Amino acid sequence: MTSGGDAAGMNPAIKAAVDHARQLGMNPYVVYDGLEGLIDGKIKEATRELTNDMIYRGGTLLRSSRSKRFFDYEFRKQAYEHLKERNIDKLIIMGGDGSFRALNDFFNDFEVPFAGIPATIDNDIAGTDYCLGVDTAQNVILDCIDSVRDTARSHHRAFVIETMGRDCGYLAMTTALCSAADICIVPEIPYDLESIYKRLQPVINEEGSCIIAVVAEGTRVAQYLTRWLTERAGMDTRLTVLGHVQRGGSPSAYDRMLSTVFGVHAAQLIAAENYGQAVAMVGNTVSHNPLSEVAGKTKFVPADAQAVRAARSMGISLGD
Ligand code: F6P
Repeated sequence: MTSGGDAAGMNPAIKAAVDHARQLGMNPYVVYDGLEGLIDGKIKEATRELTNDMIYRGGTLLRSSRSKRFFDYEFRKQAYEHLKERNIDKLIIMGGDGSFRALNDFFNDFEVPFAGIPATIDNDIAGTDYCLGVDTAQNVILDCIDSVRDTARSHHRAFVIETMGRDCGYLAMTTALCSAADICIVPEIPYDLESIYKRLQPVINEEGSCIIAVVAEGTRVAQYLTRWLTERAGMDTRLTVLGHVQRGGSPSAYDRMLSTVFGVHAAQLIAAENYGQAVAMVGNTVSHNPLSEVAGKTKFVPADAQAVRAARSMGISLGD
Protein backbone atom coordinates (compact mmCIF):
# COMPACT_ATOMS: atom_id res chain seq x y z
CA MET A 1 0.00 0.00 0.00
CA THR A 2 0.99 3.61 -0.55
CA SER A 3 0.20 6.34 1.94
CA GLY A 4 0.59 10.10 2.39
CA GLY A 5 1.74 12.33 -0.46
CA ASP A 6 2.40 10.48 -3.70
CA ALA A 7 5.97 10.35 -5.00
CA ALA A 8 7.47 9.29 -8.32
CA GLY A 9 8.94 5.87 -7.75
CA MET A 10 5.98 4.50 -5.81
CA ASN A 11 4.71 2.54 -8.83
CA PRO A 12 8.04 0.88 -9.68
CA ALA A 13 8.45 0.02 -5.98
CA ILE A 14 4.98 -1.56 -5.87
CA LYS A 15 5.90 -3.58 -8.96
CA ALA A 16 9.17 -4.76 -7.43
CA ALA A 17 7.64 -5.66 -4.06
CA VAL A 18 4.66 -7.49 -5.59
CA ASP A 19 6.61 -9.36 -8.30
CA HIS A 20 9.42 -10.35 -5.94
CA ALA A 21 7.01 -11.39 -3.15
CA ARG A 22 5.33 -13.72 -5.63
CA GLN A 23 8.73 -15.07 -6.67
CA LEU A 24 9.44 -15.77 -2.98
CA GLY A 25 6.27 -17.87 -2.74
CA MET A 26 3.95 -15.31 -1.17
CA ASN A 27 0.48 -14.40 -2.36
CA PRO A 28 0.47 -10.61 -2.67
CA TYR A 29 -2.54 -8.32 -2.25
CA VAL A 30 -2.75 -4.58 -2.76
CA VAL A 31 -4.61 -1.97 -0.72
CA TYR A 32 -6.16 0.94 -2.64
CA ASP A 33 -6.46 4.48 -1.23
CA GLY A 34 -3.84 4.05 1.50
CA LEU A 35 -4.90 3.89 5.15
CA GLU A 36 -8.41 5.06 4.26
CA GLY A 37 -8.72 2.10 1.93
CA LEU A 38 -7.40 -0.25 4.60
CA ILE A 39 -10.20 0.93 6.91
CA ASP A 40 -12.79 0.46 4.16
CA GLY A 41 -11.48 -2.90 2.97
CA LYS A 42 -10.40 -1.76 -0.51
CA ILE A 43 -8.09 -4.73 -0.84
CA LYS A 44 -7.57 -6.87 -3.94
CA GLU A 45 -5.37 -9.77 -4.91
CA ALA A 46 -2.47 -8.43 -6.97
CA THR A 47 -2.88 -9.77 -10.48
CA ARG A 48 0.09 -10.18 -12.80
CA GLU A 49 -1.46 -7.56 -15.13
CA LEU A 50 -1.53 -4.98 -12.33
CA THR A 51 2.20 -4.43 -12.37
CA ASN A 52 2.71 -4.68 -16.15
CA ASP A 53 3.01 -0.99 -17.02
CA MET A 54 3.84 0.38 -13.62
CA ILE A 55 7.53 1.02 -14.15
CA TYR A 56 7.18 4.38 -15.94
CA ARG A 57 4.05 5.77 -14.32
CA GLY A 58 4.18 8.72 -11.90
CA GLY A 59 2.07 9.06 -8.74
CA THR A 60 0.67 5.83 -7.32
CA LEU A 61 -1.71 3.58 -9.21
CA LEU A 62 -2.84 2.23 -5.82
CA ARG A 63 -3.86 5.81 -4.95
CA SER A 64 -3.13 7.33 -1.57
CA SER A 65 -4.65 9.29 1.30
CA ARG A 66 -3.80 11.19 4.45
CA SER A 67 -6.07 9.45 6.92
CA LYS A 68 -7.39 11.12 10.06
CA ARG A 69 -9.65 8.16 10.83
CA PHE A 70 -6.64 5.86 11.28
CA PHE A 71 -5.73 7.76 14.48
CA ASP A 72 -8.90 6.33 15.98
CA TYR A 73 -8.62 2.82 17.49
CA GLU A 74 -12.10 1.78 16.30
CA PHE A 75 -11.16 2.42 12.65
CA ARG A 76 -7.82 0.63 13.08
CA LYS A 77 -9.77 -2.34 14.42
CA GLN A 78 -12.01 -2.22 11.34
CA ALA A 79 -8.86 -2.26 9.16
CA TYR A 80 -7.54 -5.25 11.08
CA GLU A 81 -10.80 -7.18 10.52
CA HIS A 82 -10.47 -6.66 6.75
CA LEU A 83 -6.96 -8.13 6.80
CA LYS A 84 -8.03 -11.07 8.96
CA GLU A 85 -10.90 -11.92 6.61
CA ARG A 86 -8.39 -12.33 3.78
CA ASN A 87 -5.66 -14.01 5.83
CA ILE A 88 -3.29 -11.13 5.17
CA ASP A 89 -0.70 -11.33 7.90
CA LYS A 90 1.98 -8.80 6.92
CA LEU A 91 2.13 -5.44 5.19
CA ILE A 92 4.47 -3.31 3.15
CA ILE A 93 3.76 0.40 3.30
CA MET A 94 5.46 3.12 1.34
CA GLY A 95 5.23 6.75 2.31
CA GLY A 96 6.66 9.23 4.76
CA ASP A 97 7.13 9.40 8.48
CA GLY A 98 3.41 9.85 9.26
CA SER A 99 2.62 6.61 7.43
CA PHE A 100 5.34 4.71 9.29
CA ARG A 101 4.05 5.96 12.63
CA ALA A 102 0.49 4.97 11.74
CA LEU A 103 1.56 1.38 11.02
CA ASN A 104 3.64 1.31 14.18
CA ASP A 105 0.46 2.09 16.14
CA PHE A 106 -1.35 -0.60 14.15
CA PHE A 107 1.38 -3.10 15.06
CA ASN A 108 1.15 -2.14 18.73
CA ASP A 109 -2.61 -2.79 18.64
CA PHE A 110 -2.86 -5.96 16.53
CA GLU A 111 0.68 -7.21 15.95
CA VAL A 112 0.43 -7.11 12.16
CA PRO A 113 4.10 -7.00 11.15
CA PHE A 114 5.22 -4.72 8.38
CA ALA A 115 8.09 -3.20 6.43
CA GLY A 116 8.30 0.44 5.37
CA ILE A 117 9.66 1.93 2.15
CA PRO A 118 10.63 5.62 2.42
CA ALA A 119 8.90 7.54 -0.36
CA THR A 120 8.54 11.30 -0.14
CA ILE A 121 9.92 14.16 -2.18
CA ASP A 122 10.81 15.91 1.11
CA ASN A 123 13.74 13.51 1.78
CA ASP A 124 13.12 14.02 5.49
CA ILE A 125 12.97 10.46 6.84
CA ALA A 126 15.57 9.67 9.49
CA GLY A 127 18.07 6.86 8.90
CA THR A 128 18.12 6.98 5.09
CA ASP A 129 20.05 9.21 2.71
CA TYR A 130 17.37 8.83 0.06
CA CYS A 131 13.58 8.67 -0.19
CA LEU A 132 11.86 7.64 -3.42
CA GLY A 133 10.67 10.52 -5.57
CA VAL A 134 13.41 13.00 -4.66
CA ASP A 135 15.45 12.75 -7.86
CA THR A 136 12.40 13.11 -10.09
CA ALA A 137 11.18 16.12 -8.09
CA GLN A 138 14.63 17.72 -8.25
CA ASN A 139 14.65 17.34 -12.03
CA VAL A 140 11.16 18.86 -12.36
CA ILE A 141 12.22 21.80 -10.16
CA LEU A 142 15.39 22.33 -12.19
CA ASP A 143 13.42 22.42 -15.46
CA CYS A 144 11.17 25.08 -13.91
CA ILE A 145 14.04 27.19 -12.57
CA ASP A 146 15.86 27.00 -15.91
CA SER A 147 12.73 28.26 -17.69
CA VAL A 148 12.20 31.05 -15.18
CA ARG A 149 15.84 32.08 -15.58
CA ASP A 150 15.22 32.78 -19.29
CA THR A 151 12.58 35.36 -18.39
CA ALA A 152 14.56 36.68 -15.41
CA ARG A 153 17.57 37.33 -17.65
CA SER A 154 15.46 38.80 -20.47
CA HIS A 155 13.83 41.35 -18.14
CA HIS A 156 16.57 42.06 -15.55
CA ARG A 157 14.22 40.64 -12.92
CA ALA A 158 14.45 38.80 -9.65
CA PHE A 159 12.45 35.62 -9.15
CA VAL A 160 11.62 33.98 -5.86
CA ILE A 161 10.89 30.29 -6.43
CA GLU A 162 9.24 28.36 -3.64
CA THR A 163 9.85 24.62 -3.46
CA MET A 164 8.02 22.00 -1.40
CA GLY A 165 9.71 20.00 1.35
CA ARG A 166 7.50 20.65 4.36
CA ASP A 167 9.88 21.58 7.23
CA CYS A 168 12.98 20.26 5.48
CA GLY A 169 15.15 22.34 3.15
CA TYR A 170 16.68 19.48 1.17
CA LEU A 171 14.84 20.10 -2.12
CA ALA A 172 15.50 23.85 -1.97
CA MET A 173 19.18 23.52 -1.07
CA THR A 174 20.04 20.90 -3.67
CA THR A 175 18.13 22.58 -6.51
CA ALA A 176 19.57 26.00 -5.62
CA LEU A 177 22.98 24.42 -6.00
CA CYS A 178 22.14 22.67 -9.26
CA SER A 179 20.59 25.79 -10.79
CA ALA A 180 23.37 28.14 -9.64
CA ALA A 181 20.85 30.30 -7.77
CA ASP A 182 21.91 33.51 -6.04
CA ILE A 183 19.96 33.05 -2.81
CA CYS A 184 18.72 29.98 -0.96
CA ILE A 185 16.67 30.15 2.22
CA VAL A 186 15.88 26.96 4.13
CA PRO A 187 14.30 26.39 7.55
CA GLU A 188 17.49 24.89 8.96
CA ILE A 189 19.65 28.01 8.50
CA PRO A 190 18.66 31.34 10.10
CA TYR A 191 18.90 34.15 7.56
CA ASP A 192 19.58 37.86 7.70
CA LEU A 193 18.29 39.90 4.74
CA GLU A 194 20.84 42.68 5.13
CA SER A 195 23.68 40.20 4.76
CA ILE A 196 21.99 38.91 1.59
CA TYR A 197 21.70 42.50 0.38
CA LYS A 198 25.41 43.15 0.84
CA ARG A 199 26.32 40.02 -1.09
CA LEU A 200 23.90 40.83 -3.92
CA GLN A 201 24.63 44.52 -4.43
CA PRO A 202 27.18 44.02 -7.21
CA VAL A 203 24.77 41.67 -9.07
CA ILE A 204 21.82 44.05 -8.71
CA ASN A 205 23.75 46.88 -10.33
CA GLU A 206 25.15 44.81 -13.19
CA GLU A 207 23.64 45.43 -16.61
CA GLY A 208 21.53 42.49 -17.81
CA SER A 209 21.77 40.64 -14.51
CA CYS A 210 19.01 38.66 -12.82
CA ILE A 211 18.48 37.15 -9.39
CA ILE A 212 17.20 33.69 -8.64
CA ALA A 213 16.17 32.97 -5.05
CA VAL A 214 15.13 29.42 -4.14
CA VAL A 215 13.13 29.28 -0.94
CA ALA A 216 11.85 26.23 0.93
CA GLU A 217 8.14 26.33 1.74
CA GLY A 218 8.93 25.59 5.40
CA THR A 219 10.47 29.07 5.81
CA ARG A 220 7.16 30.75 4.91
CA VAL A 221 9.22 33.68 3.68
CA ALA A 222 8.56 33.63 -0.08
CA GLN A 223 6.05 36.51 -0.22
CA TYR A 224 8.00 38.63 2.21
CA LEU A 225 11.24 38.09 0.28
CA THR A 226 9.48 39.03 -2.96
CA ARG A 227 8.36 42.35 -1.46
CA TRP A 228 11.77 42.90 0.10
CA LEU A 229 13.62 42.34 -3.19
CA THR A 230 11.30 44.86 -4.84
CA GLU A 231 11.53 47.50 -2.16
CA ARG A 232 15.01 47.14 -0.67
CA ALA A 233 16.92 45.81 -3.67
CA GLY A 234 14.84 47.77 -6.21
CA MET A 235 14.48 44.76 -8.49
CA ASP A 236 11.33 44.04 -10.48
CA THR A 237 10.49 40.78 -8.66
CA ARG A 238 8.05 37.93 -9.24
CA LEU A 239 7.11 34.96 -7.09
CA THR A 240 6.70 31.47 -8.55
CA VAL A 241 5.26 28.86 -6.19
CA LEU A 242 5.96 25.52 -7.84
CA GLY A 243 3.41 23.55 -5.81
CA HIS A 244 2.28 20.09 -6.86
CA VAL A 245 4.04 20.23 -10.23
CA GLN A 246 7.01 18.95 -8.21
CA ARG A 247 5.36 15.71 -7.12
CA GLY A 248 4.29 14.43 -10.54
CA GLY A 249 5.92 13.05 -13.63
CA SER A 250 7.38 9.80 -14.83
CA PRO A 251 10.03 8.51 -12.39
CA SER A 252 13.62 9.28 -13.41
CA ALA A 253 16.07 6.45 -14.13
CA TYR A 254 17.54 6.88 -10.63
CA ASP A 255 14.11 6.68 -9.00
CA ARG A 256 13.17 3.60 -11.04
CA MET A 257 16.39 1.89 -10.04
CA LEU A 258 16.16 2.73 -6.33
CA SER A 259 12.44 1.93 -6.24
CA THR A 260 13.12 -1.50 -7.64
CA VAL A 261 15.94 -2.12 -5.17
CA PHE A 262 13.81 -0.86 -2.23
CA GLY A 263 10.76 -2.90 -3.29
CA VAL A 264 12.81 -6.09 -3.60
CA HIS A 265 14.49 -5.43 -0.25
CA ALA A 266 11.13 -4.90 1.49
CA ALA A 267 9.76 -8.19 0.10
CA GLN A 268 12.91 -9.97 1.29
CA LEU A 269 12.61 -8.45 4.77
CA ILE A 270 9.11 -9.74 5.29
CA ALA A 271 9.90 -13.12 3.69
CA ALA A 272 12.75 -13.47 6.20
CA GLU A 273 10.34 -12.43 8.99
CA ASN A 274 12.61 -9.50 9.73
CA TYR A 275 9.72 -7.25 10.69
CA GLY A 276 9.32 -3.64 11.77
CA GLN A 277 12.09 -2.36 9.51
CA ALA A 278 12.26 0.65 7.23
CA VAL A 279 14.28 0.18 4.06
CA ALA A 280 17.13 2.68 3.80
CA MET A 281 19.95 3.79 1.56
CA VAL A 282 23.09 4.64 3.45
CA GLY A 283 26.03 5.69 1.32
CA ASN A 284 25.61 3.45 -1.70
CA THR A 285 24.26 0.50 0.21
CA VAL A 286 20.67 -0.55 0.66
CA SER A 287 19.95 -1.49 4.28
CA HIS A 288 17.19 -1.09 6.87
CA ASN A 289 16.55 0.49 10.27
CA PRO A 290 14.14 -0.56 13.01
CA LEU A 291 11.05 1.60 12.54
CA SER A 292 10.93 2.23 16.26
CA GLU A 293 14.24 4.08 15.85
CA VAL A 294 13.33 6.22 12.85
CA ALA A 295 9.58 6.89 13.15
CA GLY A 296 8.79 10.36 14.45
CA LYS A 297 12.26 11.71 13.74
CA THR A 298 12.40 14.23 10.93
CA LYS A 299 15.70 14.45 9.10
CA PHE A 300 16.89 17.99 8.42
CA VAL A 301 19.65 19.38 6.26
CA PRO A 302 22.66 19.74 8.56
CA ALA A 303 24.62 23.00 8.30
CA ASP A 304 27.73 21.04 7.31
CA ALA A 305 25.99 18.92 4.64
CA GLN A 306 27.87 18.50 1.37
CA ALA A 307 25.25 20.51 -0.57
CA VAL A 308 25.41 23.35 1.97
CA ARG A 309 29.20 23.47 1.83
CA ALA A 310 29.14 23.41 -1.97
CA ALA A 311 26.49 26.17 -2.06
CA ARG A 312 28.70 28.37 0.12
CA SER A 313 31.72 27.64 -2.06
CA MET A 314 29.70 28.68 -5.11
CA GLY A 315 28.78 32.01 -3.48
CA ILE A 316 25.09 31.22 -3.08
CA SER A 317 23.81 33.53 -0.35
CA LEU A 318 22.24 31.50 2.46
CA GLY A 319 21.66 34.66 4.45
CA ASP A 320 23.83 33.74 7.42
O1 F6P B 1 5.17 15.51 1.96
C1 F6P B 1 5.13 15.80 0.61
C2 F6P B 1 4.51 17.14 0.36
O2 F6P B 1 4.47 17.37 -1.03
C3 F6P B 1 5.17 18.31 1.09
O3 F6P B 1 6.33 18.76 0.45
C4 F6P B 1 4.06 19.33 1.09
O4 F6P B 1 4.20 20.25 2.15
C5 F6P B 1 2.84 18.47 1.27
O5 F6P B 1 3.19 17.17 0.84
C6 F6P B 1 1.62 18.91 0.51
O6 F6P B 1 0.59 18.09 0.87
P1 F6P B 1 -0.81 17.99 0.10
O7 F6P B 1 -0.56 17.30 -1.21
O8 F6P B 1 -1.66 17.20 1.01
O9 F6P B 1 -1.27 19.39 -0.11
